Amino acid sequence: MAAGRRLAALSLLLSCACLISSQQIDPLLYEEQLLWVSGAQGEVSTYRIPLLSFTSKGSLLAFAEGRKSSASDVGAKFIAMRRSTDKGATWSPTSFIVDDGTERDGLNLGSVVVDEETGSVILVYSVCFHLFLCEPSSTMMVESRDDGLSWSPPRNLSVQLGVKTFAPGPGFGIQKRYMPAKGRLVVCGHGNIEGDGVFCILSDDHGLNWYNGAALKSIPYNQKKRPQDFNPDECQPFEMSDGSIVINVRNQNRYHCPCRVVVRSYDGGLSLPIDDLYFDYTLVDPAVAAGAMQKDGVLYFTNPSNEIHRVNLTLRWSETNGTSWDNKAVQIWAGPSGYSCMTSLDSGSPEDRKYIFVIYEKGHRDYDETISFAKIHLYGGR
Ligand SMILES: *[C@@H]1O[C@H](CO)[C@@H](O)[C@H](O)[C@H]1NC(C)=O
Ligand SMILES: *[C@@H]1O[C@H](CO)[C@@H](O)[C@H](O)[C@H]1NC(C)=O
Ligand SMILES: *[C@@H]1O[C@H](CO)[C@@H](O)[C@H](O)[C@H]1NC(C)=O
Repeated sequence: MAAGRRLAALSLLLSCACLISSQQIDPLLYEEQLLWVSGAQGEVSTYRIPLLSFTSKGSLLAFAEGRKSSASDVGAKFIAMRRSTDKGATWSPTSFIVDDGTERDGLNLGSVVVDEETGSVILVYSVCFHLFLCEPSSTMMVESRDDGLSWSPPRNLSVQLGVKTFAPGPGFGIQKRYMPAKGRLVVCGHGNIEGDGVFCILSDDHGLNWYNGAALKSIPYNQKKRPQDFNPDECQPFEMSDGSIVINVRNQNRYHCPCRVVVRSYDGGLSLPIDDLYFDYTLVDPAVAAGAMQKDGVLYFTNPSNEIHRVNLTLRWSETNGTSWDNKAVQIWAGPSGYSCMTSLDSGSPEDRKYIFVIYEKGHRDYDETISFAKIHLYGGR
């Protein structure tokens, strides 16, 4: 390529990048499709707890619990997966990558974490979480080393972590991209109601060995709870560009407000100092698992934005690291809606900067009727 043309191509590239970064965020629900419909397939009564992640090769993986005989949190389940190699335009048929058989308190999802250094995809989940006619509760892991096509047999992480009632996520775990602890895998979750709190498990060797990190315990810990007790529950961590980890947390007993709790770790998930905890009054919440992430310096948040009911799935964004949220929140679905999870591709290409992807529980009468995948154009379709 001639030097002049190379320069022209470079300046075009730069002006494109500038154009995008100076463009106003104006999210548009660009495409939507149902990935799972409860009751539509013989072996599954209800699909719930959707997770979504890109792999290091740019494939999209969607996961959900396939609850076999009822909508209940307990009972036997599959982990259902669908895979897309065209950024969500088309999807593989459902495969059941884990089957807990006839367990009366079977598996519960879970966190998906992608190791960008090895390319492996790790899914961490719990079994016997509710201690319903079983004990103890265990933390389990399956892994794919071929971009989500095949999965390892389940491995019992409680052997390393010790036996503890721990439900990862639901959502994604992270691999630290910045110091401190660059490369560390961080999976955060919660305990059962009495022993509730936000707990993170960490791995510094790509998922081979895991150890317990930060714990933000409920009050009173390991005791029965009352309304308005401090009871941090399901949570979604994401990394900021200064290397800190922000965790957006379900406020189970509505301590202080019917809104989200936000905590932050400055040491790669080893601690969650109470000094940095705050309540985000704008993020009104009915006590649910919400979606949260950071992309190109902007925070995104999805939840059913209502104090009481799981309705009104709403996308918010913040260009001030969560200090304030843009007042033009975008409603994705007015009706019943529950858990949600978000992802996006950080390839650096102008095209991938334009989109984020949301997976959420959506229905007409109840939020557990379907699992829906939504592609959001961040710049109004332009
Ligand atoms: C997992 O390991 C723990 C600790 O060794 C053990 O108590 C528990 O029964 C194991 N769980 C499963 C499902 O094998
Ligand atoms: C948000 O936090 C990052 C560090 O994680 C910092 O570089 C940036 O300046 C902050 N942005 C604002 C608007 O405060
Ligand atoms: C839906 O969410 C928006 C944004 O938080 C809020 O203004 C509106 O009142 C909510 N509607 C319902 C029915 O909850």
